[in-house]
Amino acid sequence: MNMTDPQGEALLQRKYTEKVRRMVRERSERIGRPLTAYIATFGCQMNARDSEKLMGILLDAGFVEADTEQADFVLYNTCTVRENANERVYGRLGHMKAYKREHPDTLIAICGCMMQEEAEVTRVREKYPFVDIVFGTHNIFKLAQLLYERMNGSGMVVDVWEGTQQIVEDLPSVRKYPFKSGVNIMFGCNNFCSYCIVPYVRGRERSRRPEDIIAEIRRLVDDGVVEVMLLGQNVNSYGRNLPEPMSFAALLREIEQIEGLRRIRFMTSHPKDLSDELIETMAGSSKICRHLHLPLQSGSTRILKAMNRHYSKESYLVLVERIRERIPDIALTTDIIVGFPGESEEDFEETLDVVRRVRYDSAFTFIYSKRDGTPAASMPDQVPEDVIRDRFNRLLDLVQETASTVCARDLGSVREVLVEERDDHTEGGLTGRLSNNLMVHFSGDASLIGRIVPVRLTESRGFYYIGRMEE
Ligand code: 5AD
Ligand code: SF4
Repeated sequence: MNMTDPQGEALLQRKYTEKVRRMVRERSERIGRPLTAYIATFGCQMNARDSEKLMGILLDAGFVEADTEQADFVLYNTCTVRENANERVYGRLGHMKAYKREHPDTLIAICGCMMQEEAEVTRVREKYPFVDIVFGTHNIFKLAQLLYERMNGSGMVVDVWEGTQQIVEDLPSVRKYPFKSGVNIMFGCNNFCSYCIVPYVRGRERSRRPEDIIAEIRRLVDDGVVEVMLLGQNVNSYGRNLPEPMSFAALLREIEQIEGLRRIRFMTSHPKDLSDELIETMAGSSKICRHLHLPLQSGSTRILKAMNRHYSKESYLVLVERIRERIPDIALTTDIIVGFPGESEEDFEETLDVVRRVRYDSAFTFIYSKRDGTPAASMPDQVPEDVIRDRFNRLLDLVQETASTVCARDLGSVREVLVEERDDHTEGGLTGRLSNNLMVHFSGDASLIGRIVPVRLTESRGFYYIGRMEE
């Protein structure tokens, strides 16, 4: 566990950034072009946000962002939630071996959830010795220092922390979009769902102080942001471990007051902690988006118990009913795992039953992936692959069938749309997002990007709409 003074740490890192900047400038003068940096991000929105911070540090240190891996500094920000994520990273890393042979000055780094696992760090050391820097999820703010150490030494720099209590504020960051941004409100997870590796690689739950969150959002709004996505593994338990405890709903009400902010989203809600206070706050809000991501994981109470989820099929359905009663236009999305150890055909049919009853707007469906070190990895009755495949396909068919009719429910109405980008498929086309998270394509001028405009939804295409902007 590392305990230093977070403010002192931010200062120290700025000093390292200055030193690296000097070295970057020298090298770029020598070769007659700027040094470039590329980050490949795997996994969830937490990682995406971490990558924005990492790129912020790199730009501060004088690198220019590249859009391919043919760069002077290449960083892999990894995910380990499912096995296939790991394999993809090693595939990409393998390709870099030849690249580095031709460009020996290229620096290669790997960070993120995968590197919090000892076995993976060993694999990198042994099989990918050309990697220059290895670090984890707890010390991303140290990138400048690690770069400095690598540029002044020889051999791989490895710095992985087991855990931390520290939240370092005021570090540089970039944003993918000028008008919307993710905002971390908490880090880590205490839930230990029995299949999940996240609590082991992201550490214990830590909430940011509300004043730091509000100050960050105010700065973002001053800088043109109209929509924020509040990020946490389980936002519903926000604030419990603060010196002065505060509920997530209370935090939302404070954020709602920020003038100029138009939309508030958040991810992810654990059904066990979703309070009536939150439902009421959402119902009474004009800024909180009409969308809830409410991971089900399984519809079988027996499996939910084995998953350590702390709710039953029935209580989940009651919760959905309560939400829909108070917020009728809400879109519900979910995560479902197929093939958890011991899942029988009856258990699986319970899952299908919930999907049929809830009628999700969309669902992310995952095949269970055995993660070493989690309780589920050593449970008996791992389900055979062909059975899982068959269930997975049946689930996908059902999800798609219900989602396409559910998504069409607002057809014909006029809705507010945040214009996000040009639509690549049509000339003069734009793509925007509804409050309920569905996308709309319509004609309009690119100068509207970043604005919220009224759009009539004229045609439903299953998972998105075609619309026409209203005057
Ligand atoms: N296997 C398959 N899916 C998993 N998830 C988390 N751990 C696993 C695992 N071991 C899924 C859950 C979670 C989402 C982010 O990833 O559905 O909600
Ligand atoms: Fe994993 Fe469960 Fe925590 Fe989500 S709530 S990150 S599924 S342990």
